[in-house]
Amino acid sequence: MEKIAVLTSGGDSQGMNSAIRAIVRTGIAHGFEMIGVRRGFKGLMENDFITLGTSDVSDILYRGGTFLQSARSDEFKTEAGQNKAINNLHEHGIEHLVVIGGDGSYRGAQALFNRGIKTYGLPGTIDNDIPLTDYTIGFDTTLNVVTNAISNLRDTMSSHERVSVIEVMGRSCGDIALQAGISSGVDAVLIPEFEWDIKEISDQLAKGFQRGKTHSIVMVAEGAGTAEDVASLIEKHSDLDTRPTVLGHIQRGGIPTAFDRIFTSRMGHKVIELIENEITGVALGMEKNEITYHSFDDIFDSENVVDKHLYQIFQDLI
Ligand code: F6P
Repeated sequence: MEKIAVLTSGGDSQGMNSAIRAIVRTGIAHGFEMIGVRRGFKGLMENDFITLGTSDVSDILYRGGTFLQSARSDEFKTEAGQNKAINNLHEHGIEHLVVIGGDGSYRGAQALFNRGIKTYGLPGTIDNDIPLTDYTIGFDTTLNVVTNAISNLRDTMSSHERVSVIEVMGRSCGDIALQAGISSGVDAVLIPEFEWDIKEISDQLAKGFQRGKTHSIVMVAEGAGTAEDVASLIEKHSDLDTRPTVLGHIQRGGIPTAFDRIFTSRMGHKVIELIENEITGVALGMEKNEITYHSFDDIFDSENVVDKHLYQIFQDLI
C-alpha cells in the first residue's frame, strides 16, 4: 500500500483540520495508507509520525487550529535538517508528502521535491498572500472574526464618540484589512499596497463627526503600520479621541466558516486525485471557483497582487 503523509506548518489557520480530514478520508477511500506528521517540518526531522485512520479525523471538521499542530523551523531550512527529514520519510516508506502552510512551508515542500520526495501544497494561511489562488485556508473565517470584532468595537466607540484604529494581521498583504474593511463599512483602510495621507484621513474623520457621526473606524494592516502610531497621528492632526486596538492572534482562531470547510474538502479530495494521476511538485488553490494547481516554481515566480477593483469599490463606498 502506498503511503501519503500530511503535515501543517507555519502559522495555523482555520480550516487546516478540515483539509487534513479530507486528505485522510479520501486517501483511505482510494486505498492509500495515511500518516500524520506532528508539529510540521520539526516533527518530520524528529520522526514524530502517527498513523491516521478514518476515526482519527472525526470531530475536527468544525474546529479551528490544527490537531497535528504546527511549528516554524529554521533547522529545516538547512541541508542537514532536510537530510534528517528525507531519511525519516524513506525509513517509513513514505513516497508522498502533503504540506499545508504558507509561503515558507511551500519553500520547504519545494526543497524536498527537488530532492526526490513527491510533495504537494495546500495554501494554509489566513493572510491570503499566496499567488495563483483566489483564497487561502482560513482567510474567510478570519474576515468573519474581524467583522464581528469590529461590530463589538462600534458599540463602545459610539458611546464615547471615539475613533477606533484597528490593526489586523496579513504580513505584507492588505487583503484582510481591505476585505474586512468592506464587510464592516469602516471609514478608512490603510494597506501596504497603496499610499495614504494621514492628514487627509484625519480631516475626513473630523468632518464625519461634524456631520453627526458618533464614531469612526480606521483599519490598518500590520504591513502598513501599527494601530498605536496611526491613532497618535490622527490625534496629532485632529481633536478626535482615538483608541488603538491590535486584534492579534484572536484572528487566527474560531470555528471555520462553511466556505473554509468546503474549500478545504475540495482541495483535500483533489490532491489525492493528483497523486493517483502522478502529478507532483504542485500547490493547489481555487481560481474562479475551480480547484486548480500550479508548480511550486510557477507560484514563486508569480506576484500576489491586491485586488485593485475591490480597493476602488471601497473608496467609492466611504
Ligand atoms: O502568516 C500568518 C500570521 O498570522 C501573520 O498574519 C502574522 O504576521 C504572523 O503569522 C504571526 O506569527 P506568529 O504566530 O508566529 O506570531
